[in-house]
Amino acid sequence: MEKALQEIEESYRSISRRVKMKPRVGIILGTGLAKLVDKVSGRESLSYDDIPHFPVSTVEGHANRLFFGRLAGKDALIMQGRVHYYEGFSLQRITLPVRVMKRLGIEILIISNAAGGLNPLFSPGDVMVISDHINLTGQNPLIGPNLDSFGPRFPDMVAVYDRELIRAAEQAAAKEKIKLQKGVYVGIPGPSLETPAETRFLRMIGADAVGMSTIPEVIVGVHCGLRILALSAISNVNLPDCMQPATLKEILKNAAAAGRKMVKIVEGVIKQL
Ligand code: HPA
Repeated sequence: MEKALQEIEESYRSISRRVKMKPRVGIILGTGLAKLVDKVSGRESLSYDDIPHFPVSTVEGHANRLFFGRLAGKDALIMQGRVHYYEGFSLQRITLPVRVMKRLGIEILIISNAAGGLNPLFSPGDVMVISDHINLTGQNPLIGPNLDSFGPRFPDMVAVYDRELIRAAEQAAAKEKIKLQKGVYVGIPGPSLETPAETRFLRMIGADAVGMSTIPEVIVGVHCGLRILALSAISNVNLPDCMQPATLKEILKNAAAAGRKMVKIVEGVIKQL
């Protein structure tokens, strides 16, 4: 058996032996959204350390636990903590949990991240629902032998972000009187932030927000046929002609403000499923 496939199976078996729930929804919590876990009832959790092959994050603000429980009346599987390419993990390692969640039976994947706003109409603390993306990481998690049991060699990328889930997010935001931005996310490798010239370039090529995560997990999610909803917490807004340094403290504060709105939107979406 392909080594990658064997690792996925080992992770899957280790989890399914210990947890009997069969959730339809999987959620990857990025910076700012960790509090969603407080809304989960009857929860059980496993430490990533206790799951074979799961990558363990080194970044501040990321716990490393896999939660199972009920959220907004539905069973859900929630990853609190994710790893990034800039931490030195391969994209295969970063995306292994997505395929493990698929094996555990999820059909819908909800992903959150913190991102820098590029659209001048955005404000720090806004939430953006991702309508499309640009992969500028210089990498692709599907490079290597195709895992045919998960999906095709050349997955279609015409409608990556599920239209119905975007609509559900818009409805949930409207109901809670939350302003929801919508736009294109560009993924870069990081960890250095963008120069003013890079910021101008990213805006010119059509991006509304920039970040260092999400794209690998989304590509692997599309490959295995998951319906995807992704939300960005806009933690800072970068305008190339008056760039200010974005401090980690400010990024975390604004991501938390956006995170409080995201929690309500995600609950509203799950209720509609
Ligand atoms: N650039 C890239 N990634 C980010 C940013 C940014 O300005 N803010 C939060 N994540």
